Amino acid sequence: MKPMISPSILNCDIADLRGELTKIQNADRAHVDCMDNHFVPNLSWGVPVAEAVVKSGILPVDAHLMIADPDRWAPAYAEIGCESVTFHAEAATAPLRLARELRHLGSKAGLALRPATDIDPFVDILGEFDMILVMTVEPGFGGQSFIESMMAKVRRTREAISAAGLEVSIQVDGGISRKTIEIAAEAGADNFVAGSAVFKADDAYAEVEELRRLAAQHCH
Ligand code: DX5
Ligand code: ZN
Repeated sequence: MKPMISPSILNCDIADLRGELTKIQNADRAHVDCMDNHFVPNLSWGVPVAEAVVKSGILPVDAHLMIADPDRWAPAYAEIGCESVTFHAEAATAPLRLARELRHLGSKAGLALRPATDIDPFVDILGEFDMILVMTVEPGFGGQSFIESMMAKVRRTREAISAAGLEVSIQVDGGISRKTIEIAAEAGADNFVAGSAVFKADDAYAEVEELRRLAAQHCH
């Protein structure tokens, strides 16, 4: 699978969102982290900001919803034109029904797993999703350290996807940088979220290129 680089705009210069998105226009997606202060202890943004990023037309939007009750709130992100909408397994009441609804509304459906949530309960419904997001930090904040022990889950997820003969993307999010992206790619991830690594770099465009190059050497 070709690696995708999805920079998280959580800690970019929000006052210059268009400028920041333009810097990373060589990326594959803009990863928009929506937090509600309930599911995670942090508040970021919701539908209006995601919609502004969609309307900027610079990059397709990959919405990561760290929110309670996604069954109720996630479909709106598909309706405004997000390319992909990822909700958390721990927060959804009916993940299968929600995934179908998101796809019906025209977006890709993603399922996110916190570090302590296993993939096992979802192996029989992997085909309902376009992407599994294996969190490599506890969700809530940018700038945390990559949890390498999550690579076992990435491997198990990749094996289950292959065993089912499916083509489902595996995204990793949290602490992805030049130091960690190769380990994640080797384990079977193909979609990489990087926040601080990209936006703290002197040249965000070049950082996206370098991350993609490193990942491509290991993507299966
Ligand atoms: C964490 C978010 C991530 C995060 C990534 O809750 O989902 O997208 O902002 O930032 P870094 O790359 O700095 O860990
Ligand atoms: Zn995220």
